Amino acid sequence: VPERKVAILGAAGGIGQPLALLMKLNPLVSSLSLFDIANTPGVAADVGHINTRSQVVGYMGDDELAKALEGADLVIIPAGVPRKPGMTRDDLFNINAGIVKNLASAIAKYCPHALVNMISNPVNSTVPIAAEIFKKAGMYDEKKLFGVTTLDVVRAKTFYAGKANVPVAEVNVPVIGGHAGVTILPLFSQATPQANLSADVLTALTKRTQDGGTEVVEAKAGKGSATLSMAYAGALFADACLKGLNGVPDVVECSYVQSTITELPFFASKVRLGKNGVEEVLDLGPLSDFEKEGLEALKPELKSSIEKGVKFANQ
Ligand code: APR
Repeated sequence: VPERKVAILGAAGGIGQPLALLMKLNPLVSSLSLFDIANTPGVAADVGHINTRSQVVGYMGDDELAKALEGADLVIIPAGVPRKPGMTRDDLFNINAGIVKNLASAIAKYCPHALVNMISNPVNSTVPIAAEIFKKAGMYDEKKLFGVTTLDVVRAKTFYAGKANVPVAEVNVPVIGGHAGVTILPLFSQATPQANLSADVLTALTKRTQDGGTEVVEAKAGKGSATLSMAYAGALFADACLKGLNGVPDVVECSYVQSTITELPFFASKVRLGKNGVEEVLDLGPLSDFEKEGLEALKPELKSSIEKGVKFANQ
């Protein structure tokens, strides 16, 4: 098993800490680098006592960012501020966009060949921001930049299994588009195993998947947004990326990556992962009429979120 260094930026946060725990449990990781602006010594000492393969080091503050990143094969970014009730993902925009801009500049400088898994919201915009920063630095490789949309897939699988009455472990549901509200488009027509669900049930499942983040924000009643399920999803996607890097064949996950759709330069699709990151962006496959409508409906919002990110990065 090759040596792999994974860096988590924002590792002391609500997502970062359980993500650090889950990555410590991953035998594909040999070095786990935990960076945050506060509290990483404690998190690193705590997680570091777990008797699994990786060596854990905590780095704190901008002076230590270079060391945190040097030699990283994969950088996972959950740094930022989380969504509060009444806040849309876009309200977070200015704070998180600024954080992502700085972290992307550091990645360009210190580990330009690493795969980057973006979790900081709004992902629809933060991924284009990172891409712009990377382009300016002259090291952008579209195969290596991913917006993590795995939580949408995880939710779609859970909700679908409940309605279809099938074992959740056997369920697969592709989710395309973006990572906010109506831009999230689960393709239940391609779900396996297929179940005969009514149009009403499919509409409700789609809406629940799209509103999954809000469901958690409301249930947490002012105390935060999804952290544990997001950490799980982030760890799952990171594991898929590491398997791809290690040459495991046929690793396919949905992810928000550079696309060939003219008006939408970034789009979540089924992606085959390989030794250089994205090996192939797979076709969307056949869509139901309901899904075709959903696809048309999401385009304006996704397009404007991408443009907002590009504009922020260049101002
Ligand atoms: N560099 C590194 N870490 C930072 C920076 C920075 N410039 N700025 C903030 N952080 C850290 C904070 O110190 C904190 O530990 O990011 C962490 C964020 O943790 P929380 O505030 O608990 O937020 P969390 O719920 O984990 O969400 C983080 O992920 O899904 C998204 O919408 C969510 O954008 C939000 C992000």
